[in-house]
Amino acid sequence: MIIVTEINELKKLLNNKTAKIGFVPTMGSLHDGHISLIKKARKENDILVASIFVNPTQFLAGEDLSKYPRKDEADKKICEFCDVDYLFMPDITTMYSNDEVLVKAPKLNSFILEGECRPGHFDGVLQIVLKLFNIVNPTNVYFGKKDAQQLSLIRQMVNDFYLDVNIVECEIVREIDGLAYSSRNVYLSKNERTEALKISQAIKLAAKLIGKGELNVDIITKEMQRSLTSEMISIEYIHITNKNFKSIKTVEIGNTIVLVAVKIGTTRLIDNIWI
Ligand code: PAJ
Repeated sequence: MIIVTEINELKKLLNNKTAKIGFVPTMGSLHDGHISLIKKARKENDILVASIFVNPTQFLAGEDLSKYPRKDEADKKICEFCDVDYLFMPDITTMYSNDEVLVKAPKLNSFILEGECRPGHFDGVLQIVLKLFNIVNPTNVYFGKKDAQQLSLIRQMVNDFYLDVNIVECEIVREIDGLAYSSRNVYLSKNERTEALKISQAIKLAAKLIGKGELNVDIITKEMQRSLTSEMISIEYIHITNKNFKSIKTVEIGNTIVLVAVKIGTTRLIDNIWI
């Protein structure tokens, strides 16, 4: 594995016109969720590129940018073990200048849910993802369904900007007890970690209700609210949408996402299930 910090160096290394390039962008602090994307990308491509860059423009003022977990040395070992060919780890000054052209996420889908709780977040995500796509020029790029709205907006950017890249959606990976892997799980105290189980339980409850034939979105949402109620949890949203993030009243099997965002203490966690 070659660790690359400079854009031109990576471009030169990837200057193979015929190879299939797989790309997994991350913010590091790698866990089994990231690893599943990397392993899938390894299988499906000739060259595998992963990136680790804690992207400042997608954090709002007052969010956890300065304390976002970083474990570069362990991450390098994980990537090496997963047979990554090139690990791109640029500095902030390599990726950004002071005054640059900005990408704006589309209004409708970026001001709901995550975008409503974190205004401007998706502008920063799309800005960095577009830069990374242009540097790596991947054939296939791998994103987790865990960040469902991010995935949908990146898809839209690929369509709207006619980008020549295939997006591969990857399943959510969970710990044995159901909690979705997230780099932010390390913030949780022991008690908070126990409470956090309520998130995946609420999502499972929704799936169970739907499985039994309950398709009324209001009823499912209320049941989820009840199951998430706890002194330690503050619910940011529980929302059931179709896969284009349009509100629905009735679950459409095969075209629905049940999404949850909560705060436990100061830690913000999201999860979802695709029905
Ligand atoms: P990060 O949170 O590090 O996530 C990198 C990728 O891993 C994303 O595609 C995310 O959806 C996926 N992922 C995270 N947890 C997962 C889980 N439990 N199961 C499956 N996939 C999971 O998402 C970002 O970084 C950034 O916004 C980025 C796209 C890199 C732009 O900065």
